[in-house]
Amino acid sequence: MSVGTMSSESERLRNAMVDRLAADHAAKGLTLRPEVEGALRTVPRELYTPGVPLNEAYENAAVLKKWRGEEAISSVSAPFLIAEMLGQAADALGGLAGRHVLEIGSGGYNASLLRELVGSSGSVTTIDIDPQVTGRAVACLATAGYDDVTVVCADAEHPIAPGRRYDLIIVTAGAWDIPPAWRDQLTDDGVLVVPLRMFGITKSYALRRRGDRLVSESHRQCGFVSVQGDGAHEVRYVDIAEGVHLRLDEGQQVDPTVLDGLLAQPREEAWAGVSLPPRTALIDLNLWLASRLTHEAGEFVVLTAQETAIEAGVVAPSWQFGTPATLHDGTFAYRSALRWTDRRFDLGAYAHGPEAAAAAGRMVEHMRAWVDAGSPAPVLHVLPSHTPDGDLPDGAVLDKRHSRLVLAFTPHEKGTP
Ligand SMILES: C[S@@+](CC[C@H](N)C(=O)[O-])C[C@H]1O[C@@H](n2cnc3c(N)ncnc32)[C@H](O)[C@@H]1O
Repeated sequence: MSVGTMSSESERLRNAMVDRLAADHAAKGLTLRPEVEGALRTVPRELYTPGVPLNEAYENAAVLKKWRGEEAISSVSAPFLIAEMLGQAADALGGLAGRHVLEIGSGGYNASLLRELVGSSGSVTTIDIDPQVTGRAVACLATAGYDDVTVVCADAEHPIAPGRRYDLIIVTAGAWDIPPAWRDQLTDDGVLVVPLRMFGITKSYALRRRGDRLVSESHRQCGFVSVQGDGAHEVRYVDIAEGVHLRLDEGQQVDPTVLDGLLAQPREEAWAGVSLPPRTALIDLNLWLASRLTHEAGEFVVLTAQETAIEAGVVAPSWQFGTPATLHDGTFAYRSALRWTDRRFDLGAYAHGPEAAAAAGRMVEHMRAWVDAGSPAPVLHVLPSHTPDGDLPDGAVLDKRHSRLVLAFTPHEKGTP
């Protein structure tokens, strides 16, 4: 292919990718902001994925760059995630022109999109813990002509330049906690966009700084390679059947003797008795369940399953990549796939074990309560670890190393939209 043909093919594929992203946003009830769309149509993604065929560079998927054993530790993030997170940032700040931005987790692609968005009066600094990644980012940014991005190699757990503050910090690795440096490097009402894991469920939160606290303004479904270095926190998977796993957070223990044959026990099911129309957004139900079930007896865990196990009928989870589940005294319960009747659906739970019927029943009670409360969305408050209980807002509290996280669901008033 000649250089001219290559670049027109690149442009065609890029525009097709952005058209798909716009449609994907619309299907989720989101709007792809025009300036984010413009940046995505401008930056050639293939320049950040050298060695990868042109068409693959424009698939809506992460391009994995580095592995540790079976775990991916670095990638060029999936375009839909990048687009949604840039949208969260731009919505929170009312646009990114002229803003000073720190990106945590380099690669070059997102940094160039940010460079397009902040314009000549703004600045972009990108930091990565891995010298190979920063080396590659510097080379790719130079090839693409973005020579005014500052690339730093360091552990972003710690401040990068004392006294330097940013309007936006955008984290592109999955975090377990919010280190103080991220809050302290923000301007007074600056915004942190971060994929954060709570109760084993990762979402990208746009958090605004309010003094020594951060409060979320939006959240999106997402998945990322994990933060490494001083802020690293392990995720573990244990198998409970062929192709069926429990995702456990750091420090979480389950009794291995109860796992064998767990799903081979007879299945009980319970239904919430709701009748919801197609396209009802359920994105916030899992965190509602997690925040409530965590405080009941037993362990809250996340179930993941391979397609083959679902097709074989071993499990029928609500989502194969992360379904709320509980494990208590040898009884396992999880949120099931939806049950459809006359183009409307009900929410259910399946359970196996000695207390199966009761466990499934408890789970659907929480689902019914969420629907009855008007399907509320969570607001996340991040407070310093020394905050006394009496100063916490109402909500489910999760203590991490540096912060106290409070997830508050405010029920909608009856009659309000
Ligand atoms: C998904 S990749 C970043 C993708 C990139 N933003 C892009 O434009 O495609 C995540 C990166 O985070 C980096 N990372 C993980 N922990 C880090 C830490 N503590 N400090 C800085 N970088 C870190 C990894 O080395 C990895 O390269």
